[in-house]
Amino acid sequence: MRIVDIIIKKRDKQELSSEEINFFIDEFAKGNVPDYQASAWAMAVLLNGMTPRETTTLTMAMVNSGEIIDLSDAVEIAVDKHSTGGVGDKTTLVVEPVVAACGLPVGKMSGRGLGFSGGTLDKMESVPGFRTDLDTEEFLKQLNEIGLVLTGQTGDLAPADGKLYALRDVTGTVPSMPLIASSIMSKKIAAGAHRIVLDVKLGLGAFMETEEEARVLAEIMVKIGDLAGRKTVALLSDMNQPLGVAVGNSLEVIEAIDTLKGKGPEDFYLHCLEVAAHMLHLGGKADSPKSAEKMVAQAIQDGSGLEMFRKLVIAQEGDVSYIDNPEKFLKANFIEEVLAPEEGYIKEINARKVGELSVELGAGRTKKTDPVDHAVGLMIHRNVGDYVKKGDLLATIHANQEEMVKYSREILLDTHKFSDAEVEPIPLFYGVID
Ligand code: URA
Repeated sequence: MRIVDIIIKKRDKQELSSEEINFFIDEFAKGNVPDYQASAWAMAVLLNGMTPRETTTLTMAMVNSGEIIDLSDAVEIAVDKHSTGGVGDKTTLVVEPVVAACGLPVGKMSGRGLGFSGGTLDKMESVPGFRTDLDTEEFLKQLNEIGLVLTGQTGDLAPADGKLYALRDVTGTVPSMPLIASSIMSKKIAAGAHRIVLDVKLGLGAFMETEEEARVLAEIMVKIGDLAGRKTVALLSDMNQPLGVAVGNSLEVIEAIDTLKGKGPEDFYLHCLEVAAHMLHLGGKADSPKSAEKMVAQAIQDGSGLEMFRKLVIAQEGDVSYIDNPEKFLKANFIEEVLAPEEGYIKEINARKVGELSVELGAGRTKKTDPVDHAVGLMIHRNVGDYVKKGDLLATIHANQEEMVKYSREILLDTHKFSDAEVEPIPLFYGVID
């Protein structure tokens, strides 16, 4: 079998056999497929798609490219959540500690930024010293001891996905249904979660723009989870406008801390409430997601969620004084406000453009090896449906280069669209697939 023939077959819109997919992933994981061939293959998959059988085979090939963790020795039931990627999506930083505080252990392997969407690891690394490179032994020990882990995918877990993910980020091959489904589910299955809640985003700032596409993606992932014996539920959530206010690494960590203190933006809090409630329900801690919401609200009100977040930071060697005094986070050199140029109802805040701008500011990567700037980003203070007067605060730019301030202002003004007529707020969720 030759790698080039597998690329050609997919380029020519043919279905790959399981042997071909397994061979490709096996060779790729061993380092025998150069980046240019893997990128060409990923582009062929993006353009021509995969059948559900191909997607499931790809997922399991990536799972089998490395170690598969069994969490049963560490905890009875471990839940995990995963988002398909969005702008301002710092949900993990709130829901994982809250769920753990409610007595359900959470062991999560997170990713880095991908395209215009942010990544949990990049965000958590804004906390000086915080380790995202725990090995399997450390992962299991911490899960058992404090019931909460938030680390990077170890090189041993689904290594084929780790390599492909980094390539996709910089080759325009992220928004592919089979590549997203297999990437997410291979990590979740290999990391040993017994139950999985998927936060499938849809809209302008999501990899799936329409509800129909998001639903298909959610259904594929739920099916893969079930085939692998992992009970999986998918929530379809909105990503037309940024989630919450903050977009950018340390800005998002600060917003997550505020939310854990009960002082976060309302849309973000309500989003977290729903995701965490589904995790608790799926993990058997509540009879229904509705009743679990009360537990979540309580863990925020009594500070136990925040305390769990502190424990996580301490366990992973981060400087917890940053959590206790968020003003310590490094600030950008230029912090400038953007004011409403006119009066009216906001009818659009294009999340994708906001995400792309934050990457340009340095919060994400344009090349695989780029470092991220933890201090830069954007604060988007309004939501679709809000009424603003001329001169009201729309956004705040946090930039480290002066020339980016004017540029960002122009983009942000273009990103906010206004209407004289009243505009309905956008719903947070569109449905649940289980
Ligand atoms: N999140 C992942 O882990 N993989 C993707 O491909 C997209 C989002």
